[in-house]
Amino acid sequence: MNIQTLLNQRIQAAMVAAGAPESAPALTRQSAKVQFGDYQANGIMGVAKSLKMNPRELAQKVVDGLDLSDIAEKVEIAGPGFINIFLKNAWLGKELMALRQSERLDVPNVAAPETVVVDYSSPNLAKEMHVGHLRSTVIGDAVVRTLEFLGHRVVRQNHVGDWGTQFGMLLAYMERLRSESAEISMALSDLETFYRAAKGCFDEDEAFANRARELVVALQSGDKDCLALWDEFIDISLTHCEETYKMLGVSLERQHVMPESAYNDDLQNVVNELQEQGLLKEDQGAQCVFLEEFANKEGEITPIIVQKTGGGFLYSTTDLAAVRFRQHTLEADRVLYFVDARQSLHFQQIFTLSRKAGFVKPETQLEHMPFGTVMGSDGKPFKTRSGGVAKLSSLLEEAQERAYQLVSSKNPDMNEEELRNISRVVGIASVKYADLSKNRTSDYVFNWDTMLSFEGNTAPYLLYAYSRVASIVKRSEMDIASLTGEIQVEASQERALAMKLCQFEEAIQQVANDGMPHFLCAYLYELAGTFMTFYEACPILNAEEDVKNSRLQLALNTASTLQLGLSLLGIETLERM
Ligand code: ARG
Repeated sequence: MNIQTLLNQRIQAAMVAAGAPESAPALTRQSAKVQFGDYQANGIMGVAKSLKMNPRELAQKVVDGLDLSDIAEKVEIAGPGFINIFLKNAWLGKELMALRQSERLDVPNVAAPETVVVDYSSPNLAKEMHVGHLRSTVIGDAVVRTLEFLGHRVVRQNHVGDWGTQFGMLLAYMERLRSESAEISMALSDLETFYRAAKGCFDEDEAFANRARELVVALQSGDKDCLALWDEFIDISLTHCEETYKMLGVSLERQHVMPESAYNDDLQNVVNELQEQGLLKEDQGAQCVFLEEFANKEGEITPIIVQKTGGGFLYSTTDLAAVRFRQHTLEADRVLYFVDARQSLHFQQIFTLSRKAGFVKPETQLEHMPFGTVMGSDGKPFKTRSGGVAKLSSLLEEAQERAYQLVSSKNPDMNEEELRNISRVVGIASVKYADLSKNRTSDYVFNWDTMLSFEGNTAPYLLYAYSRVASIVKRSEMDIASLTGEIQVEASQERALAMKLCQFEEAIQQVANDGMPHFLCAYLYELAGTFMTFYEACPILNAEEDVKNSRLQLALNTASTLQLGLSLLGIETLERM
């Protein structure tokens, strides 16, 4: 149930009845302060201005025509024309009952499902996944899960980089190993080392470098042997990715891989089409598109290069082909790109050009969901202690090891198997949650101590809160299914908890709209805190039967909300930790 939407619709209707245009927004929001009620509508002032009316008079007219008697205790006009709404406790209690009885916590499937193509993770296969891929992978996956939960049709696209000049170098190195009859699969078990060795040969050995260049040409012209070698490399590299996804609990599988190479045969068509539309201009031998929109103050335009001198295509050309595919074959209504903020200009150019060239329908939304960089404590992009880029798989192993130290010190008597499982869940959750809980657009500092802390907006805090609520419910020894009596919302702490529980849908809606999981993290963190305050003030197990029954339902609701919320973030919960 979405209180915000419900109130917004009713207020909007009253505004129209009071003479406002249909398009005037009511701007209903959760109130920031208790004295402003639970929700407030902020749209009156803006409309009054455009209608040249006194805002308080308009507010009065709206309130006169607004019947919220079924849900609100009080509706007040405040300041220059805000409308403050105070909800009824009994209504909150009833809504919570509905929530309790539904597996989806009463969140309906969207009325008009969209086809949402989500481009995320998308690592370059020449190297192993590193810390730089964490953000796209976990944020993208949380948004995908949320969209699917809401009933949208989601198409995952792992746009892996499997093409380009560096593959010539890698294939040349594979060839060399083979001629020395070395174990190739062994050598490829650590792609980082393999890449470095190949690069070493390329930089130092002229003959090797020439062979690498030959192999790029052979690969691009579809040479069979070369393709077979390349296939072998790509397969191993993808297997590494899959192991990382599995460790991370990310829902990407082989079937979601739509590599750059898949667009190969279409690249010339893209260039031809741009040519036919008169959009291309030759510049120093390269085929470019100059769009006015990207001119700087001096009028110089950063061009989009779609074909190099000599005929080679670029990252941009592939992205243009991908836009067409996503529109025409996947029939996207919305395409989300979870890619580093440093590629913002690239995507703005691709989107603008795609519209201009008619590669997408006007109503299709193309959205770059940029994210900031994971930083080290030195204020520079995060590196390992030895100064190299941190391999994602090693980082995740370290997380589990650190969690093991933490969990075993807290539970000296727990058996090894359970300890290992708990530390796996806590370790992975800590890394994911530290990333998800930050506003995606900013950089953040990777810090083991804060992410593994039991205090603050962290995974250990939330997982612990969940296991605590779950154990309270369990200790009650009540038959959960029989908890059907009314939920009574009386004490202020009960009310605060009830209100928070009713706001779950608003939180996930934000994740779906803005592609920002930190809204859900903040919500779950507040929910856990609100529960703790409630639990301290309102005894559950010693209360009288009907109060106990009601409070247990509040606890049960909290547990289900935490669990569902965390699962949408791609985080497992534990009954005990
Ligand atoms: N492989 C690219 C990189 O590692 C990211 C690809 C993002 N998706 C896209 N359609 N360009 O930077």
